[in-house]
Amino acid sequence: MALVNLTELLDAAQEGAYAVGAFDVVNAEYAMAITGAAEQEKSPLILMVLEGYLRYFDMELLIPSLCRLAERSSVPVAVHLDHATRWETVARAVKAGCTSVMLDRSADPYEENVAQTREVARLCRPLNVSVESEIGSVKGSEAIGSATLVSSEVDPRYFTQIEEAERFARETEVDALAVSVGNTHGLYKGKPELDLERIEAIAERTDIPLVLHGGSGLSDQDFRNAIERGMRKVNINTSLVRAAGECVASLLEQNPESFNYPELLRSAHQAVAAEARRLMNVFGCAGKA
Ligand code: 13P
Repeated sequence: MALVNLTELLDAAQEGAYAVGAFDVVNAEYAMAITGAAEQEKSPLILMVLEGYLRYFDMELLIPSLCRLAERSSVPVAVHLDHATRWETVARAVKAGCTSVMLDRSADPYEENVAQTREVARLCRPLNVSVESEIGSVKGSEAIGSATLVSSEVDPRYFTQIEEAERFARETEVDALAVSVGNTHGLYKGKPELDLERIEAIAERTDIPLVLHGGSGLSDQDFRNAIERGMRKVNINTSLVRAAGECVASLLEQNPESFNYPELLRSAHQAVAAEARRLMNVFGCAGKA
């Protein structure tokens, strides 16, 4: 169908009160499996390239492949740069074809985060590239840059402050806002508890699509509660990587003599697609393309 930008997908999600699944990819075939899942579920899709994963792939090769996948897909797909901390990564991603970028300066002081976000928005807007930013800080393993499944603890000191989110949205005019509301990247230590009142208040005061990072490990009910209150993009990495890894581990355990690498990959990608399909139904984006 089409390669689209994030704004197009999230405007529709805002209108329809659902969230679009956004999945970090590992290689082109992994992305093909997720795109196939979206086609089967008739779901809009966000394929993400994570700066922390740059050791696993060559951006200049992977991003054009994702764009090509999007162009020939029967559903609308955005190709998004996830958690860039460096300007160089943003420039490379836009040049390679990303239709959306996240410059994550949430660890910087507020004024610096605003200045950097405004600058990326100023440069990206004329190119029809959407911009996501983060206020408050979602901790965990996204910056580690390895597919190790790290469990991390939620730290309320980093929760997004409601007034600050309102001011940030006004001052930066970003297209999507990632918030810290009890979510963390990687697996959760203990039972996650999202601050639903905070999500609702931020959604009311900012009126822009909110992004839930750290989706892996949340329950289906957690997702539904968060989406009901204004989350419009849900980021998933760990649970797909885990589905692939567990699939390979179990196949090798069943048949230790089998080192058929392409078959192992194919099976792993089928497991990734199954989990992506399940999540698209939970997020409500299935049937929306
Ligand atoms: P998980 O690894 O917890 O799914 O988080 C992914 C994410 O938020 C990437 O931006």
